[in-house]
Amino acid sequence: MEDLLEIKDLKKYFFLKKGLFSFNKETIKAVDNISFSIKKGEILGLVGESGSGKSTIAKLIVRLIYPQEGKIFFKKEEIGKFSREKLSKNVQMIFQDPFASLNPKLSIGTIIGEVVRVRNKISGEICSKGEVREEIKRILATVGLPINILSDYPHQFSGGQRQRIGIARALAMRPRLIIADEPVSSLDISIQAQIINLLLDLKEEFNLSFLFIAHDLNLVKYLSQRMLVMYKGKIVEEGLSEEIYRNPQNLYTQQLIESIPKIKYWL
Ligand SMILES: Nc1ncnc2c1ncn2[C@@H]1O[C@H](COP(=O)(O)OP(=O)(O)OP(=O)(O)O)[C@@H](O)[C@H]1O
Ligand SMILES: [Mg+2]
Repeated sequence: MEDLLEIKDLKKYFFLKKGLFSFNKETIKAVDNISFSIKKGEILGLVGESGSGKSTIAKLIVRLIYPQEGKIFFKKEEIGKFSREKLSKNVQMIFQDPFASLNPKLSIGTIIGEVVRVRNKISGEICSKGEVREEIKRILATVGLPINILSDYPHQFSGGQRQRIGIARALAMRPRLIIADEPVSSLDISIQAQIINLLLDLKEEFNLSFLFIAHDLNLVKYLSQRMLVMYKGKIVEEGLSEEIYRNPQNLYTQQLIESIPKIKYWL
């Protein structure tokens, strides 16, 4: 399978001042020389303990932050040369906390409509207000939300519904790749399964690829054929999820597997 996204020798260090003296700095190697690729149509899993650098990778891909070194290619083109719009047209992100990531002052219609308008602008499509509304309703229906919520606000929804709104916002751009950073960690177990199944349906319907970030190795095994395990800014294990799960080579992977609750609500 062809690579959709390719990451080469990526580095992101943070420098924290320690104490009063600025010369006394601590270096955090959040992403320390990492390379991997995501294939077209793949859900690549990325697991690792808290602080291992998973979200930093996500943020580097969508250019919320910039690397010190290394390159990221989308369909063989370096994303450093992409305009904001071109990058956001191709790569969208779903966040862990759907409430924090949705502006509480904007209605659902405004949140999703804004993305539809940007998409139309990029593609040069001209749509009337009515057509934008119809498109918003189509997207809401696609993610399993009622279509009469355009004038409602994020606080009126449950966690699971808010995550559906976050997914709708990402989908509204018709991206190729979705970076899902712990998209179900803040949800109840029963709701988690619904959101996971929704993501799987959307992947098929829209031919999407995913980078799926999670703590839960069991969940990633369920979703992803292939996974990466991160520890302190490095990839310590990479391969087929089933094999890693069955026969982890790395100590930290073993610990992640041992930390999985024994009852599997998932399957
Ligand atoms: N803006 C920042 N400034 C300083 N340090 C940061 C910054 N962002 C992240 N870090 C540090 O980089 C390391 C990696 O953080 P990151 O958020 O990528 O971890 P993570 O694997 O996503 O963890 P979690 O599972 O808790 O979400 C951590 O030590 C974190 O404290
Ligand atoms: Mg994180």
